[in-house]
Amino acid sequence: MAQRPTVARTVAKLRSLLSPYRARGQSIALVPTMGALHRGHLALVKEAQRRARRVVVSIFVNPTQFAPHEDFGSYPRRFAADIEVLTEAKVDMVWAPAAEVMYPDGFATRIAPQGAALAGLEDKFRPHFFGGVATVVAKLFTQVSPDVAIFGQKDYQQLRVVTQMAKDLDLPLKVIGLKTVREKDGLALSSRNVYLSELERGHAPALYRTLEECAARIKAGEPIEMVLEEGRAQIALAEFTLDYLEARHALTLAPIASVKDGPIRLLVAAKIGKTRLIDNLGV
Ligand code: PAJ
Repeated sequence: MAQRPTVARTVAKLRSLLSPYRARGQSIALVPTMGALHRGHLALVKEAQRRARRVVVSIFVNPTQFAPHEDFGSYPRRFAADIEVLTEAKVDMVWAPAAEVMYPDGFATRIAPQGAALAGLEDKFRPHFFGGVATVVAKLFTQVSPDVAIFGQKDYQQLRVVTQMAKDLDLPLKVIGLKTVREKDGLALSSRNVYLSELERGHAPALYRTLEECAARIKAGEPIEMVLEEGRAQIALAEFTLDYLEARHALTLAPIASVKDGPIRLLVAAKIGKTRLIDNLGV
């Protein structure tokens, strides 16, 4: 039977478990997650194993990136099942601090990312979100001090924000973004997909289908804004309430008017029933 990953619950324990790796010169990769692990997370773990000798997966449902009206309370928590999956995947260590360990009494610092964090996409609908993400990820990076950290392109704006934050703070690690893992019908895997009713699940692939169609038409030279307008209508027809469907510069996330100003990334967010889904695709 495969060996279970060691679970660290305090920073002191985490550091004492990591120091023998460092002493032996073994490289360390970190995969930050909020648990409820699926094949998308596992693809990040595999990439981490390719890039480093030791892999740490963090599992922490970070309260500071949820607004009071959001799903922090009901966010899926499956620690025991996650440990099973990570045992199977031969992960070395799980970093699972309690909220009081991450944010002890008196905690008073918050990173305020700008640039891609103010692109008018996720930040417009979740203004608290990137401050919470940048702060917790900066803490995870300093707690674990990995050589490399693996994120998914699924949360594209987050990937841009975290990459910039690590660079701006001179954190000595490489941030890698990995391609989105999808269901056969194109729906991006997400811990939140469990919220979908059967009917909603049937409509959900419309998001990716629309992204693909828009990307193909933009590539073929059709005017970007016209293509997006039609894409927005298509998403609404699939019972979604759209937050945004936008074409942005793939690195800066600045608005883009023409293919020659690219590379272009299409980004979408929409609600179906009570569930908010996001996705994106390169043109
Ligand atoms: P979570 O939603 O658990 O995602 C953890 C990592 O898995 C993120 O980098 C995310 O982009 C990646 N991921 C999710 N679905 C994926 C898919 N279908 N294919 C590939 N990668 C996928 O994102 C967070 O947690 C949090 O904001 C966190 C960074 C941990 C900070 O709290």
